Amino acid sequence: MNPGLHALLAGAWIGCVLVEALFERALLGKGREQELILARLHWKVDKFVEAPLLVAVALAGGAMIHAYPMDGLLATKLAFAALAILANIWCIWLVKRRLDHAEAGRWEEFERVDHSQHRWGAVVLLGLLGAATLGLLY
Ligand code: HEM
Repeated sequence: MNPGLHALLAGAWIGCVLVEALFERALLGKGREQELILARLHWKVDKFVEAPLLVAVALAGGAMIHAYPMDGLLATKLAFAALAILANIWCIWLVKRRLDHAEAGRWEEFERVDHSQHRWGAVVLLGLLGAATLGLLY
């Protein structure tokens, strides 16, 4: 597997997370109608863009792992990658729950899940940036 392809997919995943942060900032707190649009949009992006990128990065990384010695740097990089992957899967679940609350008009629950989703989103970004930085250091 080509490390360039893995890095390209990783970059696309980071870009996707940054764009999501921007549309969250643009639509959150702008009224319930906008928040319902936001919840639907975020779920669509997660399903059709973010989740496939997450899987593709993990598969491309897994396919070349045997070609590198497992030293401390690679182990730390993999720990950041695992953090990003697990936190992102949890975030996707939260995005779906937030959408369900928005569609049912349960706005108190929407707010609660929304806060948790944003906290975990920051963990995803930390994992992604850590994995990308350590990957590039190699
Ligand atoms: C299951 C998850 C992953 C596995 C098994 C994996 C595996 C690897 C391996 C074996 C390398 C080559 C050794 C090295 O440069 O450290 C690498 C490089 C790299 N990884 Fe990952 N990785 C994973 C996830 C990620 C994630 C989440 C990111 C960031 C979003 C990332 C970004 C990079 C980058 C930027 C490189 C450098 C590529 C290059 O030198 O052209 N990886 N990865």
